[in-house]
Amino acid sequence: MTDIEHMLAGKKVFLIIAGGIAAYKSLDLIRRLQDQGATVRCCLTENGKQFVTPMAVSALSQGPVYTDQFSLKDESEMGHIELSRQSDILVVAPATANILARMAAGIADELATTLILATDKPVLVAPAMNVRMWLHAATQANVATLKSRGIAFVGPEDGAMACNEFGPGRLAEVPEIVKAIVGVVNPRRPLAGRHALVTSGPTVEPIDPVRFIANRSSGKQGHAIAAALAALGARVTLVSGPTGLADPAGVEVVRIETAKQMLAACEAALPADVAVCAAAVADWGVAAVAGQKLKKQVGDPPPTIALTANPDILATLSAPGPHRPRLVVGFAAETETVVAHAKAKRARKGCDWILANDVSAATGTFGGDRNQVTLISATGCDPWPALSKQAVAARLADLIAEALS
Ligand code: C5P
Repeated sequence: MTDIEHMLAGKKVFLIIAGGIAAYKSLDLIRRLQDQGATVRCCLTENGKQFVTPMAVSALSQGPVYTDQFSLKDESEMGHIELSRQSDILVVAPATANILARMAAGIADELATTLILATDKPVLVAPAMNVRMWLHAATQANVATLKSRGIAFVGPEDGAMACNEFGPGRLAEVPEIVKAIVGVVNPRRPLAGRHALVTSGPTVEPIDPVRFIANRSSGKQGHAIAAALAALGARVTLVSGPTGLADPAGVEVVRIETAKQMLAACEAALPADVAVCAAAVADWGVAAVAGQKLKKQVGDPPPTIALTANPDILATLSAPGPHRPRLVVGFAAETETVVAHAKAKRARKGCDWILANDVSAATGTFGGDRNQVTLISATGCDPWPALSKQAVAARLADLIAEALS
């Protein structure tokens, strides 16, 4: 923590403690924020009061604890709207599945949710809940909605939980939450003034008006990279095939279907300082797309579909020329001899860096939330540990900022 010593001097943090067993860690969070020079004001949700007492929170934060939506005293001293706006950041830690759902739906049913809805300040959320609640489609949809609205997240982490289960859902470690708060309150913007082009998702190659060839790419890694570059201040153009993902906040998204459309959109977005090609581009399109649905006639043999090579977007962007981005980064999704294939690919495509990853079924990378990559550059190979796709993106964005500085 020494690297961010006093990084919150003079800052006001408004901490909302929701009702989960991890609420006891919020007491430590209050202390660690004060160590960094922050003033902390707290609000307990109705459920939060079941896990930590207003007295403990008040004693540690050395101030009043707000709990009551209809407190005449608070309203006469300082209205709820004012309360939500006089801080530099609102932090929800721990955030339960319930409060995430209420935030996503815009429900203001108690003081905490009213403050979140009324604030004009950045909001950071540190979720903590049972693994199944975190992985539930409803929670994941709420998280995607909140992220697309610019709400920042830290965690949850994998780990053993109070309910004796193991998996994602554990509150991020307190120093990580402090670091995330510092990141939101004092954002580093080393990529301000830079333009980043990112490709993401699959491409879809039509056979006829109803059928197409596609692949299993979810777009999670490419979208996370676009968000991480934007978080460092870059202007980001994200050229994406169809995904089920929300648009990352603050990113210009260009939606395309085919590889040819992706190339045209990328070329239209140039010049760029950096290009990251994370899309799983179809290598082949259909040579002659049928204008009408191909008909199945009883007794006919199955049709033969002739394919034609698609443009290689990464190789095109990497080719020397006046509009070549200073840094071009590709991915090498392989299922065997990953690093050797990726090194050859870097040379063949002419890009500067390749992130090699194993996408064989056992790794769960395609569609999953984690990725283990090796960064291959002119200077050698750097294997990264298995990380969330967000963490891979953040690490790559930091390296890009360093390379462009
Ligand atoms: O050749 P391969 O598909 O394995 O190369 C992967 C890398 O090349 C990825 O960065 C991918 O985004 C990019 N690529 C591309 N256009 C293609 C094929 C791949 O940009 N037509």
